Amino acid sequence: MAILPILTVPHPLLLQKARPVREDEFGPALAKHLSDMAETMYAAPGVGLAAPQVGDLRRMLVMDATEDKDDDGKREQAKNLQLLVNPEIVERSRDKLRWEEGCLSVPEFWEYFERPRRVLVRYRDPLGGRHEEWFEGFPAIVVQHEMDHLEGVVIIDKASRLKRSRYLKKVKKGVIGGEAGSEDADSEGATL
Ligand code: NI
Repeated sequence: MAILPILTVPHPLLLQKARPVREDEFGPALAKHLSDMAETMYAAPGVGLAAPQVGDLRRMLVMDATEDKDDDGKREQAKNLQLLVNPEIVERSRDKLRWEEGCLSVPEFWEYFERPRRVLVRYRDPLGGRHEEWFEGFPAIVVQHEMDHLEGVVIIDKASRLKRSRYLKKVKKGVIGGEAGSEDADSEGATL
């Protein structure tokens, strides 16, 4: 296991579209890489991490959207770890859920977004097994946020142009320092 460096905006790899994992890439090496991503996510701490955030432009993500928290307010670790390779949304509900999102690659930035409340996701596991699963509520928010990363989309790109440019100016000035997953006690949103 290893903790990988998390890229933050404006790193150019975060803006690139990831490619599908090829058949010959499934196997133990891929599983090992995904467990390193999971360890990185828990350490940050975050509830989701997509491969482009660690500089790997392949379509895969890890998430643990368990809402239970320990007494100290931290999320329990590895309660419901999910590893998704080549995920695709095959159905989405019409009703939406509004949630405040943060991102490990966009430190100190929070914004409310509306996304479908339920999504049916088809994906492979690291050894190549095929799965189809409904995600509902918070897990649906997380999986959709992580899948945006696979398209090269981060949350500042979905925010207003003003809020985006203000944020990027702060990063440029060094007001926001490259520490991924910095604490933001004021926000109740989750870092995805
Ligand atoms: Ni993110």
